[in-house]
Amino acid sequence: MGNKISIGLLGLGVVGSGVIKLIENHQEKLVHQLGADVQVKSVLVRNLDKQRDVDLDRTFLTTNPDDVLNDPEIDLIIEVMGGIDEAREYILKAFSAKKHVVTANKDLVALHGPELQKAARKNKCDFYYEASVAGGIPILRGITEGLSSDRIRKVMGIVNGTTNYILTKMDQEGLSYEVALKQAQELGFAEADPTSDVEGLDAARKMAILARLSFSMDVDLEDVEVKGISDISLDDLKYASQLGYTMKLIGYADFRDRQLEVNVQPTMLAKNHPLASVSDEYNAVYVYGDAVGETMFYGPGAGSLPTATAITSDVVSVIKNMLLGVTGSQYVDPHFNKELKESDKCFGQFYVRLHVKDEVGVFSRISALFNELNISFKRILQNPIIKHEKAEIIVVTHQTSLENFQTALNHLNDLDAVMETKSYYKVEGDAEK
Ligand code: NDP
Ligand code: HSE
Repeated sequence: MGNKISIGLLGLGVVGSGVIKLIENHQEKLVHQLGADVQVKSVLVRNLDKQRDVDLDRTFLTTNPDDVLNDPEIDLIIEVMGGIDEAREYILKAFSAKKHVVTANKDLVALHGPELQKAARKNKCDFYYEASVAGGIPILRGITEGLSSDRIRKVMGIVNGTTNYILTKMDQEGLSYEVALKQAQELGFAEADPTSDVEGLDAARKMAILARLSFSMDVDLEDVEVKGISDISLDDLKYASQLGYTMKLIGYADFRDRQLEVNVQPTMLAKNHPLASVSDEYNAVYVYGDAVGETMFYGPGAGSLPTATAITSDVVSVIKNMLLGVTGSQYVDPHFNKELKESDKCFGQFYVRLHVKDEVGVFSRISALFNELNISFKRILQNPIIKHEKAEIIVVTHQTSLENFQTALNHLNDLDAVMETKSYYKVEGDAEK
């Protein structure tokens, strides 16, 4: 390895450019930690003629992946090109050539993480992906190293900046969903196609990775139940606020009695919940461990330099492992067999907003239905909508099983007095505290 470490970069976009800048600007600190120069030797791009906002010798650029993957002087590959199939192929080639890999590619790690991990181990290579979840926040290290001695029970995350930005702007400035989304796109948080942001898939990918490492089991992307934010109305945000809650897109993973619940859904958080004050495009991950209790990790979930810090810290870890001769074992293999909770084992409080006929006895019929299912009410609001001779009823329940709540929703639709179930959301925390 000598006193120079050569890196191959796959991709030179937002994140790749940040990596070049960070390695350049923090070279002194890197040399101090590692006793070696860290240099990017070769960079794969699609278009050699594109204008770049980094100071890089153009002869380093190539459109041929083999120039990077087959270069014997390169020990370590950073994959920041995105996409699934080519990225997967190149990373597997890198492992076969005994090169370590660092990636920011959440889509790839969520889908093929276990396969890539296995290939890394087989070839005695390191495979790190800190930047794939919550950009600049060192959450994967926090979980796998900082909390390695604890038993993690619950992980809740605001892990998508675009949706957090949209909900913040709708809630605090009354912007419409469309205008807030447009702003998020202009500011560069949203994916090229923002569907995966607003429909919760981007957050689901990150939750699959988080749950895998937190609970030491092979969690697949399909195990994560997903509901996005595109249906949320300003009315629901207004009622949430009136009741003492803030709406957030929450990734939720809970592991009890060796059973896992993992989902992404808009959730009304009590304003005193640690995650409720995370605004704009910021991310945060709340982790509850048996011994440590509540912890929270907060910071930028995307962006060129924040994401580059996560990648470059992974690079430092890989190089330290190389120096110690201990590569290939950074994340432990899954310890538990996966068993997902059925809906009768998933508990929560729920908000439901109904439009009902404005007539005598309607509320008592709704109340009787919830009573039968043993669901008690925590908060109730009722507003007449005089022009349309109907009323709006908002109910927040106490803890109940998801199964019971879903049964209640089904039976509500059968009640003659209920005209429409406008919306329903999970509720976390106690707004009255
Ligand atoms: P960009 O689109 O800005 O950059 C992608 C780069 O990869 C470009 O330089 C492009 O080349 C190159 N590239 C893409 N496909 C190919 C290909 N088939 N062959 C050769 N070169 C290719 O993406 P980002 O930098 O924003 O994201 C990179 C990765 O980091 C993604 O996996 C993303 O999910 C992840 N990530 C991004 C964050 C962010 O804040 N942007 C945050 C956390 C993770 P060219 O420049 O010539 O077009
Ligand atoms: N589109 C993503 C977000 C980028 O909004 O969080 C970072 O993964």
